[in-house]
Amino acid sequence: MKIINVVGARPNFMKIAPLMQEYKKHPEIMAVLVHTGQHYDMNMSESFFRDLEIPEPDYNLGVGSGQHGEQTGKIMIEFEKVCLKEKPDLVLVVGDVNSTIACALVAAKLHIKVAHVEAGLRSGNWKMPEEVNRVVTDRLSDYLFTTSEDAGKNLIKEGIDPEKIHFVGNVMIDTLMIGLEKKSMILKKLKIRPRDYAVLTLHRPETVDDREKLSDVVDALGVLKDRIRIFYAMHPRTKKMLAKFGLLSRIESTVVLLEPMPYVDFIHIVKNAKLVLTDSGGLQEETTILGVPCLTLRNETERPITITEGTNRIVGTSKEKIVAESMRLLSEDTREHSRPELWDGMAAGRIVEIIYNDRKTT
Ligand code: UD1
Repeated sequence: MKIINVVGARPNFMKIAPLMQEYKKHPEIMAVLVHTGQHYDMNMSESFFRDLEIPEPDYNLGVGSGQHGEQTGKIMIEFEKVCLKEKPDLVLVVGDVNSTIACALVAAKLHIKVAHVEAGLRSGNWKMPEEVNRVVTDRLSDYLFTTSEDAGKNLIKEGIDPEKIHFVGNVMIDTLMIGLEKKSMILKKLKIRPRDYAVLTLHRPETVDDREKLSDVVDALGVLKDRIRIFYAMHPRTKKMLAKFGLLSRIESTVVLLEPMPYVDFIHIVKNAKLVLTDSGGLQEETTILGVPCLTLRNETERPITITEGTNRIVGTSKEKIVAESMRLLSEDTREHSRPELWDGMAAGRIVEIIYNDRKTT
């Protein structure tokens, strides 16, 4: 059985890593790894392959950055060639980036089965490029692997055949658990002590491409900086937008700016933070497991379980709300939270077993 696995952008790497490890236990499965090259910088891509022990990709499509149509189209053109050559039984895509939708669409048109890991998440915000990618990829998929029961319900509501939906848990958490066992010197290197600082991440186009929202967030950080040191490993998209809106020097005088960080260092800095401010999806899940208070700087989340069971809270992007909620959390000692069902480090094993057993019987 041949499976083509697709990665493209940073959040895909943590999701594919445990699957690539799992395939090794099944000599009957031939796993091909394709990197679309959506992310290409050393610290946005290569360092993750090293940290997460992901094998060298069999193909790198080298598509790089571009407008959505351009980037998605380029991936499709190149990925189709790979599929025609490799003739896989299955194409497995993860997450919700442009590489996910592009490769799922190519496979479906070639009548190759599609598996989507992290299916069924819905923000309800159709202006997010990720939401379009999620909905279309799920519609094209034959195996929909979900991280939570609510995701399965979303899929049923959209008319997806329940037999295609498999609640398996969260591959991000498989990777998190392995990563936490690895050593990191990042706290020492930055000369910080546990719970003495906050971590910020910010990169969603819906926030950072909007001058008013971005400016509000920077203003909020300007108030918070007198209460706690804030570390921000700046995403290249945000850097570009801050420069465009003339906000770069303001943020430079507010937070400690760092380059995008390798995975193991990043989860260690998050694990020891007093507070996380973010617009990322993955970080809402990681803080849930780590028990670190998380404020999501968006108006909604596609991951409601991180609120009902985890440490996450939606605050939007208004300066007053961000400051008020952060101050409240900074004066709290602990936060009650529980571990969502099946976020136990064994999701990849479940996925590979389902795919393999299914192929044996068809
Ligand atoms: C993409 C995903 C987003 C994910 C994020 C994680 C889509 C639609 N979006 O957003 O869901 O959360 O990745 O990072 O797929 N750039 C570099 N070096 C790189 C990659 C990008 O400098 O290695 C710069 C380029 O200027 C590029 C910009 O960042 O134009 C944005 O990159 P892009 O791939 O378009 O999307 P992200 O914003 O990273």
